[in-house]
Amino acid sequence: MSAVTISFGLQKGGVSKTTTSTLSAFILARQGYRVLVCDMDSQGNASQFLTNKSPYDFQGRTILEACKERNPEPYIVGITENLDLLPAEDLLSTFSRWLFDEYKPELQRTGQVDPNALLLVLKQTLDAVREKYDFIILDLPPNLGEQTLNGMAASDYCVVMAQSEPFAYDALQRYLETLEHVQSRVNPNTKLAGILTTLLDARTALGNFIRDRIAEEYEDLVFSTVIRRKSRVVEFSFEGISDKTKADREALDMYESFVKELTKRVNKG
Ligand SMILES: Nc1ncnc2c1ncn2[C@@H]1O[C@H](COP(=O)(O)OP(=O)(O)OP(=O)(O)O)[C@@H](O)[C@H]1O
Ligand SMILES: [Mg+2]
Repeated sequence: MSAVTISFGLQKGGVSKTTTSTLSAFILARQGYRVLVCDMDSQGNASQFLTNKSPYDFQGRTILEACKERNPEPYIVGITENLDLLPAEDLLSTFSRWLFDEYKPELQRTGQVDPNALLLVLKQTLDAVREKYDFIILDLPPNLGEQTLNGMAASDYCVVMAQSEPFAYDALQRYLETLEHVQSRVNPNTKLAGILTTLLDARTALGNFIRDRIAEEYEDLVFSTVIRRKSRVVEFSFEGISDKTKADREALDMYESFVKELTKRVNKG
């Protein structure tokens, strides 16, 4: 059976896309699924989080090269038995320049005129290894540029982050409109998995107010799990992910409950 591809996105920075996508991938792999994390953000945070290495260690051997060759195979980095990574670093920011300055002219020269071709490069690339995995998890960058559009078009399911904070609330609406555009013009099989409320600080009235407003407006689309602020989660990004202590397991608990909902929604598990 071929992989279900799930992206984690929002054009707003720091709403826990990377943390949630990589911890979810870690949990799925621990459950025995074969998982590939594809880092689509030139910050390389997911790459750093999973390997504890500098993203610059992967220069020249990233998802950018995989997309240029439409072949991820040589660039896959093994993390654990079931968990693999396609890394990213700064130069992924040249992705859109490559698309328009090199890839588009190449398509024109060879007479390929599909207007969506530029948005389907990532999908084509990942399709080459789809049979090897149960899940492909995409960590998207904090903008609505070509990496995010390619990420949406490559997704079977999109998870949209909603931080309980005013700026993130407005971004959520625009993200959903962009997703509708991708669904109608590029890939009709892309679906919304749901909206995940993150980084709730339940001590603030505003946080609770926005969470309630999102729940009211988007109803069943919102996952019941809420990702709360926990200091242990931040420590994972320095020390690596661990499930040894009680604090580790408490921090992972909320992600496990999210993964349970997610696998149900995408009909796996
Ligand atoms: N559950 C949590 N509790 C506490 N801190 C968290 C939690 N999840 C994420 N963080 C912290 O919040 C910050 C932003 O998280 P993260 O990098 O995952 O967000 P992002 O949306 O991927 O950011 P960017 O838009 O820059 O890619 C990080 O410092 C991270 O450690
Ligand atoms: Mg990130």
